[in-house]
Amino acid sequence: MKIVEVHHPLVRHKLGLLREASTAPALFRQVVGEIATLLAYEATADLPLDDTGIETWAGPLTVGRCDQSRITLVPILRAGLGFLPGVQVLLPSAPVSVIGLRRDERTLQPHAYYQRFVEDIAGRTALLIDPMLATAGSAIAAIDALKAAGVTRVKAIFLVSAPEGLRALEARHPDTEVWTAAIDERLNDHGYILPGLGDAGDRIFG
Ligand code: PRP
Repeated sequence: MKIVEVHHPLVRHKLGLLREASTAPALFRQVVGEIATLLAYEATADLPLDDTGIETWAGPLTVGRCDQSRITLVPILRAGLGFLPGVQVLLPSAPVSVIGLRRDERTLQPHAYYQRFVEDIAGRTALLIDPMLATAGSAIAAIDALKAAGVTRVKAIFLVSAPEGLRALEARHPDTEVWTAAIDERLNDHGYILPGLGDAGDRIFG
């Protein structure tokens, strides 16, 4: 599985702000958005371009155009919503599909409660968006649903990932491509990432 840990100094600086327990939700949301943009920039580096003829002031020219209708952005509710605006800065025309998954805090199993994908999702590249990859139960369930709907390629961006989650995701969906701001140390007994950020959903939404 392709896994890219983005070491850009701005990503590391901003992630440090998020790790601080005293960072309030307003700043936390803003910085999450900024990192989402930086990760999306990396994750979209190989998107195909179509040659398109245009007229410039100096005459005709062929330029590259990215067809965003071949993509769908897929935030995992709820925390993924905090990541979405930062990705939309770069892909403002990409349709959004959403999936709601809530992890049972006792069993750590994801429970699906909502799913609404764009109707013509078959054949699209999905950009899966979630701040946290812990056990990977949620990401695996989301990718199961996306592939069942006909998605042919999944790129995923996570703010913080646990090694255990990356291993589980690779075992189930080795064709997934992952960009993350950090691969942390491990999960604790309650399935929280260490050192992590705490509960991303609670920190984004208060
Ligand atoms: C968090 C997080 C991921 C999931 C990660 O969401 O945003 O979706 O847990 O855990 P996993 O890799 O072990 O599945 P949570 O279930 O807390 O819901 P929320 O986003 O609504 O807060």
